[in-house]
Amino acid sequence: MDNRPIGFFDSGLGGLTCIPHLMRALPDERIVYFGDTARTPYGSKAESTIRNFSFEISDFLVSQDVKMIAIACNTVSSIALSALRKRHPSIPILGIISPASHTIANTCTGENNVGIIGTKVTIASDAYPDKILKFNSDLHLHQMACPTLVPLIEEGIIEHSIMDLSIEYYLDHFIKYNEIDTLVLGCTHYPLIRKNIEKIYPKLRIVDPSKEMFTSIDDTLTERGIKAASPTISNIFYASDLSENFVNMINKIFSDSDFKVAFRNFDLDDYLR
Ligand code: DGL
Repeated sequence: MDNRPIGFFDSGLGGLTCIPHLMRALPDERIVYFGDTARTPYGSKAESTIRNFSFEISDFLVSQDVKMIAIACNTVSSIALSALRKRHPSIPILGIISPASHTIANTCTGENNVGIIGTKVTIASDAYPDKILKFNSDLHLHQMACPTLVPLIEEGIIEHSIMDLSIEYYLDHFIKYNEIDTLVLGCTHYPLIRKNIEKIYPKLRIVDPSKEMFTSIDDTLTERGIKAASPTISNIFYASDLSENFVNMINKIFSDSDFKVAFRNFDLDDYLR
């Protein structure tokens, strides 16, 4: 048993989409979340920049005595997972891409056309096709980077025609030309626009990797004997820029639960100085 929290991080509020799944699957676990809202989006930045940001955040989470780090960001998972594991060899660090790739490989066949959408860095890394094809080499995979979706989501522009037009701009031709029937939301921000996508393309089957992540978190906690049991600590959400949208999103996620939530504005520069 281990009542210490699990550390989660993302470039911003996208990783928050993982939290309701955690609450449902592992209600005794507590979290420390870090959203790098001051420096979002990550998805079009240089790999070395993203790697350095992820080092800073993981060092901070380790200083908060987390028992595990779950990378709630496809972009970081796609290019920095092994470097992060080397940096913190004493705690388990899980990415988001591998568990989802397993599900896709197990639930799709060669008759499906699977579309993967994500940031420029995630798509350029080929992390999804590399993993999925290792598990099932029969699948037909297609990828599309959608770089303007994350900034719109971070601004809270979701229930608006600008969002629907942006989705159509990236996906209309992609879906029709490749006859996509299964769409993988390869960025943790995208579950926040899942309803928009379903409204525009009602026949698509949607795979949400932020949901798939919890089987591997559960397995790792069990294997290492570090599951929590009735902890008394609160969940803590740090943001490098505590925006109104970030706070609203957290309140929305926790509105129906009796979980204790605490917010902190956190200046990584101060921490690093
Ligand atoms: N939510 C993140 C991901 O899953 C990062 C998006 C971004 O900052 O560009 O890739």
